[in-house]
Amino acid sequence: MSAGLRQKLDPDRLPRHVAIIMDGNGRWAQRRGLSRIRGHQEGAESVRTVVRLCREVGVAYLTLYAFSEENWQRPPLEVQALMQLLGRYLQQEIAEMVENQIAFRAIGDLSRLPAKIQRQLAATTAATGGGQALTLTLALSYGARSEIVLAARQLAAKVRAGLLTPEDIDRELFAQHLYTKDLPDPDLLIRTSGEHRISNFLLWQLAYTELYFTDTLWPDFREEEFLAALLDFQRRDRRFGLTQEQIEAQL
Ligand code: IPE
Ligand code: IPE
Ligand code: MG
Repeated sequence: MSAGLRQKLDPDRLPRHVAIIMDGNGRWAQRRGLSRIRGHQEGAESVRTVVRLCREVGVAYLTLYAFSEENWQRPPLEVQALMQLLGRYLQQEIAEMVENQIAFRAIGDLSRLPAKIQRQLAATTAATGGGQALTLTLALSYGARSEIVLAARQLAAKVRAGLLTPEDIDRELFAQHLYTKDLPDPDLLIRTSGEHRISNFLLWQLAYTELYFTDTLWPDFREEEFLAALLDFQRRDRRFGLTQEQIEAQL
């Protein structure tokens, strides 16, 4: 089934950057009478699947929302388990990332993460820096409003220091002060688990992104589901405010 889906993909119309809100781990577990933590473990397998698939089909950037600023308010035991899972994931995947030319990075308020995780993130980023096949970004302790506020503060400080005037601040300069300054805007955003919301993810960067919502829970989101999302993206007409005739004249 998924081999057939893969053949249907048009390699010339792939999203360059896919972002995913990986939601539904808790419900996946609860439906099976398991602890929420088991859902997060199973979700980590879906991460491995989509990372591998992006590399294989040729998606250049993958950004995964793994832990939001708001998620710090979850029960301490769940937060602790998520941090442990993250540590284990980094430890298990670093060699494969290097081997597969995957450049890893993390965005968010990383200073709130446990010191050991911060060290692992820095080490993984450094070890994989040369990766050319795929840039994998994990959003951790991430909140888009905080990211935008931080950018505004940095720009204000530069104006106060006389390095910039207010008129120098345009969209490009603003974007250069976001965590995502080295990433193109996402072409496709996927959210699993049936929720139709953005939950404080990449508010600035999603301005013209195609949105894809599926009821599938994150631990069940595997190869076929991901290929289905890519195929759905390929059926969309992106107009960026122009008319369809204008777009066709550009081709
Ligand atoms: C997503 O699954 C993982 C994180 C937010 C860390 P959830 O844990 O939110 O799962 P549900 O939404 O409760 O099912
Ligand atoms: C969004 O999921 C954050 C991540 C997937 C990391 P949540 O489960 O925290 O989102 P809400 O609270 O349902 O909006
Ligand atoms: Mg959720």
